[in-house]
Amino acid sequence: MTILVTGGAGFIGANFVLDWIAGSSEPVVNLDKLTYAGNLQTLSSLEGDERHIFVHGDIGDTDLVQRLLREHQPRAIVNFAAESHVDRSIHGPEDFIETNIVGTFRLLEAVRAYWGALPEQQRGAFRFLHVSTDEVYGSLSADEPAFTETHPYQPNSPYSASKAASDHLVRSYHHTYGLPVLTTNCSNNYGPFHFPEKLIPLMIVNALAGKALPVYGDGQQIRDWLYVKDHCSAIRRVLEAGQVGEVYNVGGWNEKPNLDIVHRVCALLDELRPRPDGMRYAEQIAYVTDRPGHDRRYAIDARKLERELGWKPAETFETGIRKTVEWYLSNQDWVDNVQSGGYRAWVEKNYGGRSA
Ligand SMILES: NC(=O)c1ccc[n+]([C@@H]2O[C@H](COP(=O)([O-])OP(=O)(O)OC[C@H]3O[C@@H](n4cnc5c(N)ncnc54)[C@H](O)[C@@H]3O)[C@@H](O)[C@H]2O)c1
Repeated sequence: MTILVTGGAGFIGANFVLDWIAGSSEPVVNLDKLTYAGNLQTLSSLEGDERHIFVHGDIGDTDLVQRLLREHQPRAIVNFAAESHVDRSIHGPEDFIETNIVGTFRLLEAVRAYWGALPEQQRGAFRFLHVSTDEVYGSLSADEPAFTETHPYQPNSPYSASKAASDHLVRSYHHTYGLPVLTTNCSNNYGPFHFPEKLIPLMIVNALAGKALPVYGDGQQIRDWLYVKDHCSAIRRVLEAGQVGEVYNVGGWNEKPNLDIVHRVCALLDELRPRPDGMRYAEQIAYVTDRPGHDRRYAIDARKLERELGWKPAETFETGIRKTVEWYLSNQDWVDNVQSGGYRAWVEKNYGGRSA
């Protein structure tokens, strides 16, 4: 038995692959295009491990995906591959349309053909799990209840609109063709190996470098935060026990304004790596012009996943954010390489001569 993971060199996908290999003997084929967000150094601990088969390629490359499906005969696919950064989608939406919509469509088409030709028993057991986001539901006012799985889709950024489109395609492949799909819509993740363009790692990295900590607008945008390992455990649970065709919201029950997050990170750094001049890291906070169309509040109601599949996050925000800050403090090399592009040179050296 084998699973195919797409986007497994990115933040959540790589955490998922590492956890999977640590807890299972089942091999993972990892298909990743290695955009700026993909980083094979994150997976370097798996070098030489035959259970991890890395393939450099695009989910939109139908010939490649068909070949992988034929060769490896996966029993499931977990689709993480995406362009994932809202700000980048505002500056240039095209890649988001290409990967999140067209890429997902092509992947679904290849999978549909493969699944349709499987023997009946394997066809019944097959799963296509699509990893999505709470951002597809739009923005909540302060007193509205959290997003449930039946909340109307109201995406507000090119990123969330492209993810919404992919969710719809996945849903339609179940409804129309019977493809056994599962969809998870998760809140903001944080944790190890997070690319330092996103809020929490950016604050840690900038704080340590003595740079400004840019906070959008008034910093009162509320997000629900989930430790990445908890997201990975939720996906494993949905994969093993989710009802085909169903959607599961995944969240950490940790609604917090961005400014509180930044202050918490600063306080942890004050404790764990105090500034040599005795000043507090919070003094580096700088308010900057808000993101256009910035959603005010997301909140996830994750009760369905708890009620039906017995999943709950293991970390509180306090335990998760401490682990995260400690991880960044002890893995400065990873950050330096990501920032310097050194990891790309490493990838070229390590993988340049290998064929997909
Ligand atoms: N980060 C979050 O807080 C969050 C929350 C909820 C849902 N999600 C979803 O989870 C998934 C993973 O998010 P992430 O934060 O790990 O993203 P990421 O940007 O860190 O990683 C995305 C990965 O996909 C790869 N990729 C991009 N285009 C590809 C293509 N065409 N073919 C193959 N690989 C491609 C990249 O190289 C990268 O390794 C995404 O679908 C995202 O929408 C993320």
